[in-house]
Amino acid sequence: MTDGKIPAARLGDDGPEVGVQGLGCMGMSFAYGPTDAGESRATLERALELGVTLYDTADAYGAGENEKFLSPFFKAHRDEVVIATKFALAIPPDDPTRRIIRNDRPYIRQAVEASLERLDVDVIDLYYMHRRDVNVPIEDTVAAMAELVREGKVKHLGLSEVTAAELRAAQAVHPIAALQSEWSLFSRDIEASVVPAARELGVALVPYSPLGRGFLTGSFANADKDLTADDFRRQQPRFTGENAAANVALLEPVRTLAEAHGVSPGQIALAWVQQQASVHGLPVIPIPGTRKVSRIEENTAATRIELTKEELALLEPIAAKVAGDRYADMTFTSAGRE
Ligand SMILES: NC(=O)c1ccc[n+]([C@@H]2O[C@H](COP(=O)([O-])OP(=O)(O)OC[C@H]3O[C@@H](n4cnc5c(N)ncnc54)[C@H](OP(=O)(O)O)[C@@H]3O)[C@@H](O)[C@H]2O)c1
Repeated sequence: MTDGKIPAARLGDDGPEVGVQGLGCMGMSFAYGPTDAGESRATLERALELGVTLYDTADAYGAGENEKFLSPFFKAHRDEVVIATKFALAIPPDDPTRRIIRNDRPYIRQAVEASLERLDVDVIDLYYMHRRDVNVPIEDTVAAMAELVREGKVKHLGLSEVTAAELRAAQAVHPIAALQSEWSLFSRDIEASVVPAARELGVALVPYSPLGRGFLTGSFANADKDLTADDFRRQQPRFTGENAAANVALLEPVRTLAEAHGVSPGQIALAWVQQQASVHGLPVIPIPGTRKVSRIEENTAATRIELTKEELALLEPIAAKVAGDRYADMTFTSAGRE
């Protein structure tokens, strides 16, 4: 850190420079229980002071509410922030409670206009395909996204939860700045082929849920008992029942290292993700999500922690022992299609 700010990294070979840690804004409107709008706004401002410039949202977060919520902050700091949003999780007209995956050109063109309107900006800095619709060739999807770049609606392209083969096919159509996929001490399936492909192609990795959706911080131990009824984590196999009990025990080495460094377990989890940049030789810009000022301070401070080889080795066995999948339905993930 210089001037109290986190260091910078480049978002892909041709992408913008951003703070090496971004901010996941999803929980400010969606998925993780009750929110406090004032505290969320204060968190956004504090993040910027600390050098966080990449802000992550999606049209699906609260069915557009998250983009609307962030709009005043983005407009107040337009030249300082890199706005990332996503398309693909469409609401079918006959049932607003469901989501279907759409990657087709007509849908993309409609989705970008809706996001631009809700965000109330002229251009989206980084536009991601959120989930893959296997019925549409990825080349066609990326060609439709590239049109948006030529038209000045979008600056850079990103993909989420794609396989190495899909990433290669996409990059052959248009440069991809960032690949956003789950990556944490608990979720390491992308290391087998996706991360090497991203390194080879000059694509930055943007790990989502780097805190294991909060589980790695110790802030909850069992979703059924500790979280509200509407919390999305109650649908995730690894956070409930016997799986949760088994997975809590895996946090022991994280706690041991936290004590040794005089930091929190969450900071060790984030330091591990940040350090994957040097382990794998590519830019890694995690986007931990928080709605609290104290936590954005804690999370960004983790960029200063260096883990030794021996400490990394202590954390190495955790992921292979995790009980339960990342999602109830893994076919929507890159691992589910490999
Ligand atoms: N591409 C995709 O498919 C996809 C999927 C999921 C998420 N995302 C993006 O990735 C972002 C981050 O992922 P995520 O929010 O799912 O998971 P995460 O960053 O691993 O964890 C977020 C959870 O941890 C809690 N937390 C954060 N900092 C903490 C700290 N220092 N101490 C204790 N608890 C802490 C947060 O609570 P508070 O908010 O109350 O602090 C929240 O419940 C999202 O916001 C979203 O933008 C993308």
